[in-house]
Amino acid sequence: MSSEHEYVTEKVRSFEAEGARVAPGDGRAGRQVDLLQTASLRLGDKAPDFTQDSTQGPIHLYEWMGDSWAVLFSHPADFTPVCTTELGMVARLKQEFDKRNVKVIGLSVDPLFRHDMWAHDIAETQGVELNFPLLADADRKVAQLYDMIHPNAHATETVRSVFIIDPKKTVRLIHTYPASTGRNFDEVLRVIDSLQLTDDHKVATPANWKAGDDVVILPSIRNQEADKLFPKGYRELKPYFRMTPQPNIEPAE
Ligand code: BEZ
Repeated sequence: MSSEHEYVTEKVRSFEAEGARVAPGDGRAGRQVDLLQTASLRLGDKAPDFTQDSTQGPIHLYEWMGDSWAVLFSHPADFTPVCTTELGMVARLKQEFDKRNVKVIGLSVDPLFRHDMWAHDIAETQGVELNFPLLADADRKVAQLYDMIHPNAHATETVRSVFIIDPKKTVRLIHTYPASTGRNFDEVLRVIDSLQLTDDHKVATPANWKAGDDVVILPSIRNQEADKLFPKGYRELKPYFRMTPQPNIEPAE
């Protein structure tokens, strides 16, 4: 089995032979990261806007999102096994994101030609085409804006960051996983379900909640108001702790 470097070099050679335009070098050698401009993002902050190249052409984030939600997620590097499974999983879940009015966009600091070559491997090994854009953030513009490089974990590669951004362009979730741990994208969908539900109803979702389970009524709502807001009724376990069926679905037959 060849090393990653030999494998990618061979891929570049055959890509060139097919007439594809390839940037000189592999775009990953000797990179230095200037992290002085890195911002620290928090929940409730405005998501930084950007324009960057992607596998689906240049993307201007706000324009691309329109009135949708977005999941922006980084992975450490192309041609790595865990990342390959993650991108395959997101591609398989595309319809679930679509159903929730969510656009997904991946990122690593690899150049476009590597993304394009790697996409063939994703299709071959995961049985699904890359059906969402991957940002080619070789100049680290987006990685720095979103603080995706954690130098004490890895000097140059992005960690596994996830940002959920709502249609008003507000950051609603940030989570960060180490390079060695592939993410659970069902959890990303679960958080989106919770955010979209709790934006519209005066409820919050308990531990391990999933769509359809009972929810908790916000402690700030007095019983008199809860009686009107939750016609399906509620159970009062403590004065601050009331459970009610999920308000926006019909009860199961
Ligand atoms: C991977 O995607 O397989 C991976 C990337 C960086 C470190 C470890 C694993």
